[in-house]
Amino acid sequence: MKNIYVVGSINMDIVNKVHHFPHPAETVEGQHTAYYPGGKGANQAVAAAMSGSNVQMVGAIGNDAFGTPLFNSLLDKGVQVGHVKSKESGSGLALITVNEEGENCIMLSRGANEQLSGTDLPNEMWDDAALILLQNEISWDINLQIIHKAKECGIPVWMNPAPALLLPNDIYASIHTLILNETEAGLLTDRLIVDENDALLAITQLINKGIAHVVLTLGSKGLIIADETKQITYFDAYLVNSVDTTAAGDTFIGTFASSWLSGQTLCESMQFASAAAAIAVTKPGAQDRIPSKSDIEAFIY
Ligand code: ADP
Ligand code: NA
Repeated sequence: MKNIYVVGSINMDIVNKVHHFPHPAETVEGQHTAYYPGGKGANQAVAAAMSGSNVQMVGAIGNDAFGTPLFNSLLDKGVQVGHVKSKESGSGLALITVNEEGENCIMLSRGANEQLSGTDLPNEMWDDAALILLQNEISWDINLQIIHKAKECGIPVWMNPAPALLLPNDIYASIHTLILNETEAGLLTDRLIVDENDALLAITQLINKGIAHVVLTLGSKGLIIADETKQITYFDAYLVNSVDTTAAGDTFIGTFASSWLSGQTLCESMQFASAAAAIAVTKPGAQDRIPSKSDIEAFIY
């Protein structure tokens, strides 16, 4: 069976609801602390594994109290963890506050993720990866190294440039599939994306940089995909009662990669991934509420 390698972040999400966000020098009370294993890399790895793929996580946890629960969460969800390293450092942390309007403020501390280096990349990845999935929560130098080497080895790289970071222009042609949301697309194309027309202009601008596929996700408005023939396809999102959109994109991306690699058509994979994300947003959390293949099938059919 082909392997998906996810080289990326592993974080503990620590979430509190507050009445309002604190101003400088103000203390506000959190209503309840929830600990959710997260991180874009780990979430995407879990989503791919939950929908049936063989997934290898390459990443780093800290030697603090969060390292073991983060490791175990990946293991419990069926992700291969032989390439997860423990570093002399704190684990990656996302301190998230959610106000009464449901908006969030996030302080991300990279911790061990920042210490992942080229020497942590397993040699067998270059032989048995069918696809390498990257995000932007580890050092850009490693991503760059992987993109170049994967090109030499003929391995497709899928990139989710989140948090948004300007990519060097000569890198685009080495990326097989770019998956990003409106905020990230706005930064990469230097546009304000407000309506469907802006989204269309942004995706056209990105596909013209030489990427084989660009997927622009638009939250509850669905997504747009462009391919190298410049064909553009729209997919609606499923209508659900959303309570927490954390990791919607991660759930979508991991499920999409897994479905496509397993031989489903592009359309089927989009539908499958949209359904997975729609199911996830109906419950609070991150990795712990990413649905399995059978949950997704039950939702769709
Ligand atoms: P990100 O989490 O990266 O911002 P999006 O919010 O664009 O990503 O979500 C990715 C995909 O998840 C969307 O294209 C859509 O299919 C699905 N999705 C996200 N939010 C919702 C929602 N509120 N209702 C239904 N589907 C959603
Ligand atoms: Na979003």
